[in-house]
Amino acid sequence: MRKILITGGAGFIGSHVVRLFTNKYPDYQIFNLDKLTYAGNLENVRDLEEAENYHFVKGDITDAAFLKELFSKHQFDSVIHLAAESHVDRSISEPLAFVTTNVVGTVSLMNAAMESWAGNMGGKLFHHISTDEVFGSLGEEDFFLETTAYDPQSPYSASKASSDHFVRAYANTYKLPVLVSNCSNNYGPNQFPEKLLPLCINNIKHNKPLPIYGKGENVRDWLYVVDHARAIDYIFHKGKVGDTYNIGGFNEWKNIDVVKLLCDIMDRKLGRSEGTSQKLITYVTDRAGHDLRYAIDASKIQKELGWEPSLQFEAGLELTIDWYLENVEWLENVTSGAYAQYYSKQYDS
Ligand code: NAD
Ligand code: TYD
Repeated sequence: MRKILITGGAGFIGSHVVRLFTNKYPDYQIFNLDKLTYAGNLENVRDLEEAENYHFVKGDITDAAFLKELFSKHQFDSVIHLAAESHVDRSISEPLAFVTTNVVGTVSLMNAAMESWAGNMGGKLFHHISTDEVFGSLGEEDFFLETTAYDPQSPYSASKASSDHFVRAYANTYKLPVLVSNCSNNYGPNQFPEKLLPLCINNIKHNKPLPIYGKGENVRDWLYVVDHARAIDYIFHKGKVGDTYNIGGFNEWKNIDVVKLLCDIMDRKLGRSEGTSQKLITYVTDRAGHDLRYAIDASKIQKELGWEPSLQFEAGLELTIDWYLENVEWLENVTSGAYAQYYSKQYDS
């Protein structure tokens, strides 16, 4: 029987990973460790509460004493590490929080795993979930490969790059069995509406302006979140220990085009006449140091592990929009209170 610690499982991607592992592997015991920051929400995993192989633990990955006790109590054989501060704009206004959670948190978690696994690393695994943003910004051509040199440009990506370096340093120095995966931009149900797609879905619904940074020409490579969770499953079970895998959708879009597509789909779903929501598009001051283009070459995971995305982008967007339109209460809960303050600070000046 495996005992897996998944961190950040009340967040966006983590909740989909926890769901996939809990439902697909009833013989595994899944422990979801989350601090429940503004981005963590137990509503995201409400459907798993009754599952016998699912356990929630509230706690902080930067708290070494707490982690030591947790590992000693449960004797996990593996960790899938997603807990992080994840929003670039917040990293620009509060970089130190990103160093604390993403760097100190990751190192503290590895220390706890190492102490618990001391002298017996056989069958153990630390799977670190990272981002394509560590590679920096691409021009109009080329793709990020697993071998591309790191060149992080934002405080968020610098903190993730640093944590990736620490993970590889622990593998080299202490022989910690690790896997690293670097994924492109995710979209789908349960994403906090500070990120581009859910923010625009929410604003279109409420007839609010759609803030496009700069000229909207920045390019992102979008992947449906469930496909990311599936890729993590493939890598965790079939990946070569010590190796790195890039995950992406071969699905590049300029921000302005993706927002226009959202507007058109939502006009249809909301019974608005064609072109109504596009009038909400508002160009605003660009993000400081805004990376121009991200694009993943995901051929390694396709060839070596047989993973590929299951959904076309338009189909994934339909599912995502339907989820946000149906889950009114979820959206209202997460957009009240502290988020309302962040939103007015970010966009109302
Ligand atoms: P998210 O912000 O939605 O969720 C992060 C979760 O981590 C939240 O539940 C939060 O409560 C928890 N957390 C934060 N600090 C913690 C702490 N100190 N201790 C315990 N839990 C804590 O993030 P996400 O978008 O789901 O991203 C998950 C992971 O995937 C991150 O490591 C991120 O860097 C990576 N990633 C994200 C994307 C993307 O497009 N969102 C793409 C590639 C990689
Ligand atoms: P985001 O969802 O924050 O993801 P990331 O910065 O990690 O790629 O942003 C996606 C793209 O959308 C990015 O180029 C910044 C842009 N963007 C806007 O134009 N307006 C917004 O309000 C937000 C949040 C993002």
